[in-house]
Amino acid sequence: MILRRVAILSIGEMGYHWSQLLTRHGIEVLTYSKGRSEVTRKRAENAGVRSVPSMARLVSEADLIVSIVVPLAAKRLAAKVAAALAKVGRAEYLYLDANAISPMTAAEIGNAAFQGSPGFVDGCIIGSATKLDKGATIYVSGPRADEIKALESCGFAIRVLGTEIGQASAFKIVYAGLTKGLQGLLVELLVGARNFGLLREILQRYEESFPGLVDKVASSIVALPVHAGRRAEEMIELAQTFRSHGLRPIMAPATQKLLKAIAELNTAHPSETGRREGDLLDVLEQFFQKGLMRVPA
Ligand SMILES: NC(=O)c1ccc[n+]([C@@H]2O[C@H](COP(=O)([O-])OP(=O)(O)OC[C@H]3O[C@@H](n4cnc5c(N)ncnc54)[C@H](OP(=O)(O)O)[C@@H]3O)[C@@H](O)[C@H]2O)c1
Repeated sequence: MILRRVAILSIGEMGYHWSQLLTRHGIEVLTYSKGRSEVTRKRAENAGVRSVPSMARLVSEADLIVSIVVPLAAKRLAAKVAAALAKVGRAEYLYLDANAISPMTAAEIGNAAFQGSPGFVDGCIIGSATKLDKGATIYVSGPRADEIKALESCGFAIRVLGTEIGQASAFKIVYAGLTKGLQGLLVELLVGARNFGLLREILQRYEESFPGLVDKVASSIVALPVHAGRRAEEMIELAQTFRSHGLRPIMAPATQKLLKAIAELNTAHPSETGRREGDLLDVLEQFFQKGLMRVPA
């Protein structure tokens, strides 16, 4: 595949960093932002992305269409893109779903929206948006997953997991259980420690017992005010995946509950550049002050 134009739906934090990396390597990035928030539209402008006036135009022009949205929007968006492809009569295309969805959702998108077309590629992103070309990896699977390797010329690390739809999603969902689980566990314990006035002491003890652990998770906790809602959705997908294979998840629903409670505190300040601001102690203090986990009197 020759990459000249890549369509990204939508320009959230991750879409912003994809756009910047692609643009730096001479690829034109397109998006369609009708119905999107002001902050998403501003991010697109800031990243130098060309906004096209219709979905039909987007799918006509793009060599690759990438879906990077919130997990619950993945199916809806895929259906819109598939309808636009049908409308413009384009049968040859490559659509990468890079969202943290369950393998069942990926299979449903492949079968229902794209009717089993090999142009649908299952994918996931592991690593931070801010470190896209410095340690993050895009895992892909599906009959044409190999073609996504074209992105390597722009600095992306691509790993092909296999030829089946669902392999990349399953990989991400199990991985996400660890990262979100650690965030949830640490937030719960650290807000508890703040309540006892022992926050700095316990952080020091954690560092002595598990060197580097809190530091590794800290920037993900700082991003929770903005991303807790989406991460809670990922835990729903993880729990559903386990249930569909006859396993009863216990940690994933608990993590989901805590992340949802954080999202409901409404402390988010979405950034127009995708940069993360604040530090761990400030964010924990906000959670504490807003009454996270507090039992109503
Ligand atoms: N951020 C990271 O570091 C990171 C790391 C690994 C993987 N990921 C993956 O990347 C994906 C996006 O994460 P993010 O951090 O970029 O989230 P985000 O900052 O919340 O952005 C989500 C974007 O999706 C848009 N959107 C929501 N519903 C949509 C719909 N129905 N149709 C089209 N666009 C829609 C949002 O637009 P509005 O502003 O209008 O709501 C926003 O622009 C997720 O699947 C996540 O798992 C992210």
